Amino acid sequence: MAEVSARGDLVIAACRSGERLARGIVAHYERLAAQEGRGDDGQGVLFLEDIDSRFSDTETIVQLPQDVSGRDAFIVQALHDPTSRRSVDDNYAALLIAVRACREWGANQVTAVLPYLAYARQDKPAPGRREPTTAKLMADLAIAAGIDRLVTWHPHLRQIHGFYGKTPVIAVDSMGLFLQEFERFRGRDDVIVVAPDAGALKFVTRFSQALNLPSAIGSKVRPRPEEAEISELIGSVDGKRVAIVLDDMISSGGTMFAVVEALQQQGALASVFVAASHNLCLEAARERLLALNERFGVEEVLVTNTIPQTRAFLEMPFVRVLHVAGVLAEIIYRVHHNRPLSALFEEMESSDATAVGGE
Ligand code: R5P
Repeated sequence: MAEVSARGDLVIAACRSGERLARGIVAHYERLAAQEGRGDDGQGVLFLEDIDSRFSDTETIVQLPQDVSGRDAFIVQALHDPTSRRSVDDNYAALLIAVRACREWGANQVTAVLPYLAYARQDKPAPGRREPTTAKLMADLAIAAGIDRLVTWHPHLRQIHGFYGKTPVIAVDSMGLFLQEFERFRGRDDVIVVAPDAGALKFVTRFSQALNLPSAIGSKVRPRPEEAEISELIGSVDGKRVAIVLDDMISSGGTMFAVVEALQQQGALASVFVAASHNLCLEAARERLLALNERFGVEEVLVTNTIPQTRAFLEMPFVRVLHVAGVLAEIIYRVHHNRPLSALFEEMESSDATAVGGE
């Protein structure tokens, strides 16, 4: 049976940094379509790769190898790609130009799929430092380029929706993936879940309530850029043998290092687990994670592939990468077929959720 959607036929296009993830999304999508008997006459999803390149003066150029007119377009891009020499700025330019190309060549709708939403950290004017609200500027540029919708993963700022005005933002996070991973600790009174700072508290509260575990929060200060100190841990670690530390991202690794060090100073934990949605794969973080494993009993560091992970991190035996392609394929499937997303979100957070991961 041909795949029919009121939004037009599907096209998934990948900018170069998003290609690996996009291939995983397409594979999952085709499985979903086959399960529902919505295969598209054996031709599979129209998948466009290699759409961006560079002129010799380093300008970005995008060319669409096939017609997208009348289609429902999803453009996948990894804005931060430490496995390539392309910068965040290069990748953002490629995304904007790809969106404009789909728009100008007649796509019905254009959805940007940006699992790691770069430029979200400057989210307010910082008094004294004269910083602009760069996150808003980047949202304005994406809207001006022509996006109709944004799909993203665990944005640094939950209120990011406000920056996109009437352009819908679908923001999913790693809660479902992390709940599956740590289900074995459910209800144990010798386990504590820790938020390194106030920014992580809501996520940690949802997680600890779902698994019926107590929680604690760190009072974090940054004495210098890329360094963190936990001045106080609010919540008792007494009698705890296991700690699970959750955050949105590992950048320099300073936050994770400081919080685990503070935990171990308060009580001798037998094991510590660290989990973050995004790992920027910086060298400083690699060194800190190694030290956490060797000196502070960190047994496992869980991250996801919202950012392509470098060999240096993949080779560390205690780092494990959870895959987001399955969830993103489900979201694309539901958007493309005008199906509600709420059921997916509920399913992902239910205790008996089966993995929708996979590369
Ligand atoms: C801070 O607000 C974030 O939630 C993370 O805690 C932070 O970005 C991690 O950065 P780093 O690894 O450099 O401490």
